[in-house]
Amino acid sequence: MANARGHFTSRFGFLMAAAGSAVGLGNIWGFPTQAASNGGGAFVLAYLILAFLLAYPALMAELIIGRHSNANIVTALSTLSERPLLRRIGGAVGYYGVLVVSLILSFYAIVAGWILAKFAAPLVQLLGFDDAAAWLAQGGLVRDLAACFLFSVLTMWIVARGVSQGIEAWSTRLMPTLAILLIALIVYVLNQPGAADGLRVYLLPDFSRVLDPSLLLSAMGQAFFSLSLGVGTMLVYGSYLGRALSEKDQQDKLPHIGATLTLLDTSFAFVAGLLIIPAMYVAQEQGIAIYGAAGELLAGPGLVLQVLPGLFDNMGNAGIWLAITFFALMTIAALTSSISMLEAPVSVATEKTGASRTRATLVIGCTIFLISAIIVMNFSALFDRVVSFTTEYSQPLLGLALSLFAGWVWHRDKKIQAIAAEQGVERGGFFWRVWPFYVRVVCPLLIIVTFTQSLLG
Ligand code: ALA
Repeated sequence: MANARGHFTSRFGFLMAAAGSAVGLGNIWGFPTQAASNGGGAFVLAYLILAFLLAYPALMAELIIGRHSNANIVTALSTLSERPLLRRIGGAVGYYGVLVVSLILSFYAIVAGWILAKFAAPLVQLLGFDDAAAWLAQGGLVRDLAACFLFSVLTMWIVARGVSQGIEAWSTRLMPTLAILLIALIVYVLNQPGAADGLRVYLLPDFSRVLDPSLLLSAMGQAFFSLSLGVGTMLVYGSYLGRALSEKDQQDKLPHIGATLTLLDTSFAFVAGLLIIPAMYVAQEQGIAIYGAAGELLAGPGLVLQVLPGLFDNMGNAGIWLAITFFALMTIAALTSSISMLEAPVSVATEKTGASRTRATLVIGCTIFLISAIIVMNFSALFDRVVSFTTEYSQPLLGLALSLFAGWVWHRDKKIQAIAAEQGVERGGFFWRVWPFYVRVVCPLLIIVTFTQSLLG
């Protein structure tokens, strides 16, 4: 292998990078609106329980495989077993994961581009370029392509700098900034008229819905997407833990690190709800429509591209600063997730072909941008299809495959079992007694249920 592997320099750096991967548009945009439309506090409760009982064991499967194999997803899955057939299947699953995460990044970068443009518009307006600000705020093919390109360049720039200098350094700066912006916005919005109605809708639980299967399934799907599971991003981040977490420490500390990560991800999602839903009701108080034609709370692009900008426009000068702060928050959330998505294929390319990180990042990043451009130019035909192929169909299937690999292939491999016993896994604590059963039986069964549900529509 021509290139030395990257690594995180500290556990804190790993936590910031992995939390950055997990906390993204799914938390700040997806979770609050799902909660508000699915029983409020009942959804929040179901989400918290499912995140810890199901998504957390699946996250651990990725972190453990990554930390154990010290390799990208393709190499990791194709070397877990000594059986040729399982090695081939592992390699194929790895490549499928790389394809899926690249496609997720291709649509994610489009949405992030919209957000970046919305962030730039009020800044440009403050500088007195009103026409440019209007162009940035309005949208259209050229603006969407340019903004997506700029966002892709930012992502490539950070990834090309490497794991510790790029991903870790930037996540360590950006994640605390994200937390500060989020809290500042919440304090402001909660003091506006109408916010209390939003809090009620978000938090008051409709307990008649707690056992509703569709609520449980949406909560589980959201938890899997939010923790970036199934596509190898957490796996490759786990593989860079080597220097920050010794082989021995891994047995004791990895379960805590994974639990902290799950807690950070769910906390950001929960706290984002304290901003987004009250902000929607503040907008309603000002006469902006927040419900769609069928009486549902607006959730998709309508929310972030119309309702909230409408609210900011109504607030005069304060609105300009609010818009800058809010879209900075969203851009940071998207960027720390997108770098983890680009890192997954880049790690495969550098380790499989010996290409330099800069070259691999450029080639893969530009290819993904080209796919984004094709989607932008054929938006109505492609966008929803790519989203549903990747997040509804492929992510659960890959999550299932990774759980099966961690639960059956890794666990059964005699050589690994021997190493595990030597390292003290068998005499480990509660986690090591419960997790193998979860990841072998419970996770696969529940993923199959989610998948079947998404197939049935
Ligand atoms: N996990 C990332 C998100 O929630 C992809 O947006």
